[in-house]
Amino acid sequence: MLPDLRGDEVAKTLSSGSTIRQLVEEAAAELRGAGVSDAVRQARDLLQIATRLESAFIFAHPEFSPDESEISSFRDLVSRRSAREPLQQIRGRQEFFGLEYKVTRDVMIPRPETELIVEEGISLLSGVANPSVCEVGTGSGCIIVSLLHGMPDAIGIGLEKSPDALAITLENAVSNGVVERLELRESDVFGALKQGESFDLIVSNPPYVPLEDVSSLQPEVRDFEPQMALTDGGDGLGIVEQIVNEAPAFLKAGGHLLLEIGFSQSPAVLRMFDPGIWSKSGAFADLQGIPRMIRASLSAS
Ligand SMILES: C[S@@+](CC[C@H](N)C(=O)[O-])C[C@H]1O[C@@H](n2cnc3c(N)ncnc32)[C@H](O)[C@@H]1O
Repeated sequence: MLPDLRGDEVAKTLSSGSTIRQLVEEAAAELRGAGVSDAVRQARDLLQIATRLESAFIFAHPEFSPDESEISSFRDLVSRRSAREPLQQIRGRQEFFGLEYKVTRDVMIPRPETELIVEEGISLLSGVANPSVCEVGTGSGCIIVSLLHGMPDAIGIGLEKSPDALAITLENAVSNGVVERLELRESDVFGALKQGESFDLIVSNPPYVPLEDVSSLQPEVRDFEPQMALTDGGDGLGIVEQIVNEAPAFLKAGGHLLLEIGFSQSPAVLRMFDPGIWSKSGAFADLQGIPRMIRASLSAS
């Protein structure tokens, strides 16, 4: 049974000489009390960040005592996580599609389901020589950077409204070796594209949460991820609809549009596609079998 301690009590308890076992148990109790799920694993992850010990070592040596400065920084991290700061922001990075992405409060944390967009994009462009890709709302850059990394002959333009997010996209493009093939522009949706620019693929994970749903999101999302990444400030479909309506002007004949959307939005989004313009459109499911992605192709002529 883990002791049921409050934050200030834990702070007093985490003293020099504490073992990994004690530190993890005490931190897990604090995290649990703050409503953090999977508290023991998260406590171990925080200990690993603070001490830089291998996770296998943390498992194998519960009797080991980290030094005082490590315990102090662990204590700070536990307080931050108890205030519901996401682990990925505390760590400052997240793995996505096999690559490392820097993550700050200026960008959405890359989600595993978004990897499906990357997989699908690479598959759609597999027969295209030197494909061109445009992303609306790059954030961390996880989509367009992963696409360019997965297709060494591809080039891309990333559009993003937030200059702070765009700076992180750039850092991640550099660290993942695609910056020479990626142009970044501050842009409201397609606003920064020039007439005549066109792409084989346009992709977006736009802000699709209805404003009225934001207050009921988990604190990690609601209080720590950028509001602009979450919602369009309306019913959640405003930017999606703008992308569907404006994308044909920037797609090559037969080009593709891939969108990530919210849980119940696929019927409404599929209705936005004019069958006179789009040759086919459909939804495909995420890892839980929920239709969260839309794929559409422009008519070939
Ligand atoms: C849901 S996040 C997706 C970020 C990243 N592509 C990903 O999948 O993790 C949406 C992104 O769109 C950006 N954004 C919001 N409104 C925008 C707009 N009108 N034009 C361009 N980008 C916008 C946000 O700043 C945010 O980075």
